[in-house]
Amino acid sequence: MLILNFEKFPVLETERLTLRPISIDDVDEMFQQRSNPDVMKYIVRPLLQSRREAEELVRNYEFLFEQGISITWAISLKGESKMLGTVGFPRINKENYRGEIGYSLDPVNWNKGYMSEALKEIIQFGFKQLRMNTIEAVIHPENRASSSLMLKHGFVREAYFREHTFFDGRFQDVEIYSLLSPR
Ligand SMILES: CC(C)(COP(=O)(O)OP(=O)(O)OC[C@H]1O[C@@H](n2cnc3c(N)ncnc32)[C@H](O)[C@@H]1OP(=O)(O)O)[C@@H](O)C(=O)NCCC(=O)NCCS
Repeated sequence: MLILNFEKFPVLETERLTLRPISIDDVDEMFQQRSNPDVMKYIVRPLLQSRREAEELVRNYEFLFEQGISITWAISLKGESKMLGTVGFPRINKENYRGEIGYSLDPVNWNKGYMSEALKEIIQFGFKQLRMNTIEAVIHPENRASSSLMLKHGFVREAYFREHTFFDGRFQDVEIYSLLSPR
């Protein structure tokens, strides 16, 4: 079974980015991003309504990592502390060595290749360090930025589920993209 028990949070570096733990210092950015309808347009989570909700979310990320349930990184530019977004495995199916990948960025940082750079590192980490066999992404069919990103990284569209998710008073379709471990 896949095990998630790091003594300390694994900080990762890419050419331009540092992937580090989300902390209480990120509450303002977390609130700004998760209350932004453009960021949340295709994410089935309610918009945050207050800074206090952002603080709860941050605490929950810390809790999930400490308990070995899931792992999510804050994305910052190297040498800077501001959180530009998040990337990680919010859901891990340990028995089947499957991780669901999730990611979002503040819109001022879209289309600069940042998420592609972060994903390259996180995908490797998922396969090599966490020993995942499959990484999957659950994507709203209209979220072209997200599906392009997955295809660019070699993911395959494996499924289209009709009326898969009940959110905001209605059922929504989803696409499932996945990537198998190269081994
Ligand atoms: C999805 C998201 C993280 C992409 O981040 P990004 O840093 O802008 O992506 P990148 O700059 O690394 O681009 C990666 C590729 O996707 C493509 N892409 C990015 N935005 C696109 C868009 N709106 N439409 C089509 N393709 C797009 C780029 O062309 C790029 O391919 P290329 O390098 O061959 O040109 C960002 O749009 C976002 O945060 N969206 C809101 C949150 C969200 O929907 N998350 C996903 C939930 S499943």
